[in-house]
Amino acid sequence: MVRRELRLGGRTLGYLEEAAAAPPPASTPTLVLLHAFPLAAAMWEPQLASAAAGWRVVAPDLEGFGSSSPGEGATPSVEDFARDALALLDHLGIERAVVAGLSMGGYAAFSLLRLAPQRVAGLVLADTRAEADGEAARAGRDAMIETLARGGAGAVFERMLPGLLGATTRSSRPAVVRAVRDLVVAQPAEGIRRAILRLKTRPDSTPLLGRITCPTLVLVGEEDQITDVEVARGLHNRIAGSALRVIGGAGHLSNLEAPQAFNGAIASFLSAHF
Ligand code: MLT
Repeated sequence: MVRRELRLGGRTLGYLEEAAAAPPPASTPTLVLLHAFPLAAAMWEPQLASAAAGWRVVAPDLEGFGSSSPGEGATPSVEDFARDALALLDHLGIERAVVAGLSMGGYAAFSLLRLAPQRVAGLVLADTRAEADGEAARAGRDAMIETLARGGAGAVFERMLPGLLGATTRSSRPAVVRAVRDLVVAQPAEGIRRAILRLKTRPDSTPLLGRITCPTLVLVGEEDQITDVEVARGLHNRIAGSALRVIGGAGHLSNLEAPQAFNGAIASFLSAHF
């Protein structure tokens, strides 16, 4: 896996991809992976390491996470993430890609679809939802900002842990729990704070669902408590022609908790449609 960077004005956008001796031609089918909160592109390591045959896989660090600079705009928005993903495609000379987003990455994927539907060849919506935050969720965001201010990223991890990872992972996969903790605590507090504001103010994407015409796969961990199976079923029911796969023994971070099943579902989806 290699980390690369591009400059966007005064900012750096970092991204990960599998090491290749030479960059693949721009015509290579490409999968773009958009990560969850409060993680970074490195959460996609099991997917970057086992890309479906013939596919290029790239994973940006969304603004303020990993090696990407925090933005400076006064009103951070989830749309900034989508603009950065589009800038990455432009940089790589890629016209269209399959876009996969997990949770917050799914919100970014919806934004990308609103901004540039012609760039999206297919969609993978993992452990995510289309609805905006309601009143209770917005109050929860404010409480999370206080947790961050008091205890930093470690306190955010402790607060999120019961929802972030499924019961099976929490009880029987200590290495996954440690890896997620290490990744969360490595994230800059300012990037986390601005991402909480983006989550809190993200638009309702439900009006978009009926307009999605590209091949779409909805994935969800069966133990996901943040965006549960019923939420995923709702997405599947409203996106014509979509497929739904429930991943056994996994919670919200299904790609890390059950990487083989997650990768298998994506590989079948890609080979069926592209
Ligand atoms: C995530 O995993 O990205 C977050 O749980 C998203 C959210 O809190 O809405």
